[in-house]
Amino acid sequence: MLKTRITEFFGVERPIVQGGLMWVATAELVAAVANAGGMGFMTALTFPDAERLRAEIRRCRRMTAKPFGVNLTFLPTLRPPDYPALIRVCVEERVGFIETAGRNPEPYMPQIKSAGIKVVHKCTSVRHALKAETIGCDAISIDGFEAAGHPGEDDVTTLILVPLARDAVDLPLIASGGFADGRGLAAALALGADGINMGTRFVATREAPVHENMKLALIRRRETDTRLIMRSLRNTERVLHNRAAEKVLEIEGRGNTRIEELIPYVSGRVGRQMLQDGDVDKATWAAGQCIGLIRDIPTCRELLDRIMAEAEEIIGTRLADMMAPGDRPSPPHA
Ligand SMILES: Cc1cc2nc3c(=O)[nH]c(=O)nc-3n(C[C@H](O)[C@H](O)[C@H](O)COP(=O)(O)O)c2cc1C
Repeated sequence: MLKTRITEFFGVERPIVQGGLMWVATAELVAAVANAGGMGFMTALTFPDAERLRAEIRRCRRMTAKPFGVNLTFLPTLRPPDYPALIRVCVEERVGFIETAGRNPEPYMPQIKSAGIKVVHKCTSVRHALKAETIGCDAISIDGFEAAGHPGEDDVTTLILVPLARDAVDLPLIASGGFADGRGLAAALALGADGINMGTRFVATREAPVHENMKLALIRRRETDTRLIMRSLRNTERVLHNRAAEKVLEIEGRGNTRIEELIPYVSGRVGRQMLQDGDVDKATWAAGQCIGLIRDIPTCRELLDRIMAEAEEIIGTRLADMMAPGDRPSPPHA
């Protein structure tokens, strides 16, 4: 058992977080992660309006008595969602934790914090982590360049970003981007994080509500099979290399890209269809470099059991055995 500032912060058994996953982090997955001892975030923008989010939160509560949270993603979008209404539902439904991501959540902090909800801000640079600390966020999740989705524009890998973030902020810290197994968890803790966040790995679990083809694609593809799209719009997204990603890159390559040209390939509507009908080339979909480490489709319970056992073996045995007996720190006196 690993007790860290993150297990304490969320009140969960395991320092493993399932971050926001558009279309994927519905009650089934979030409850499965919670029941396996981790912390899951339901993704608010998956639902058409605040009342549908409320219904999903209630459905999740019927599936688990454990803590879970809601992800609010603030991205540049043609039609901004009604964030105050989504937050109001979180307040009324007594959600304890919100994961914010994308743009600066500052405009919404008074509404969230006055209700006593704790905020984990997921960001991609040390300067944004520092900003999050100053505006009153309670924990930081930091996404390295390996990550699926929006890894920012700085291209700094998790190996560098996590220790830099640890040096810069005092808040509980979650390392994100590239994690799929217990080796990653042990490494993240060694780098100074208090836990890990995983996205791509949770898509390839039994409970993820997506077509089997999507999960099989994650198993079959390699660490080199992701692409960065929308860089020309300074809204970079790491996605699986498929026909839709190639088309987007071709359009971007022509120069002067307008988002309207990319909509047929990147829109949420077509992405959602693809996840349900299993046509893996229909739209772009977020996937991280850790696909190289994904080899099966376990349940969330099996996955978290395995990650914990592996990390504990590494920390308690493999690394400890590397130290000569005389060098080992002596246990504290009773
Ligand atoms: C299919 C998919 C959808 C995602 N959607 C969101 C989202 O809506 N909001 C968000 O904050 N992060 C989103 N992410 C990013 C994850 O929460 C997480 O930060 C990222 O996947 C971590 O990197 P990893 O994939 O290497 O584990 C998504 C990731 C994936 C794989």
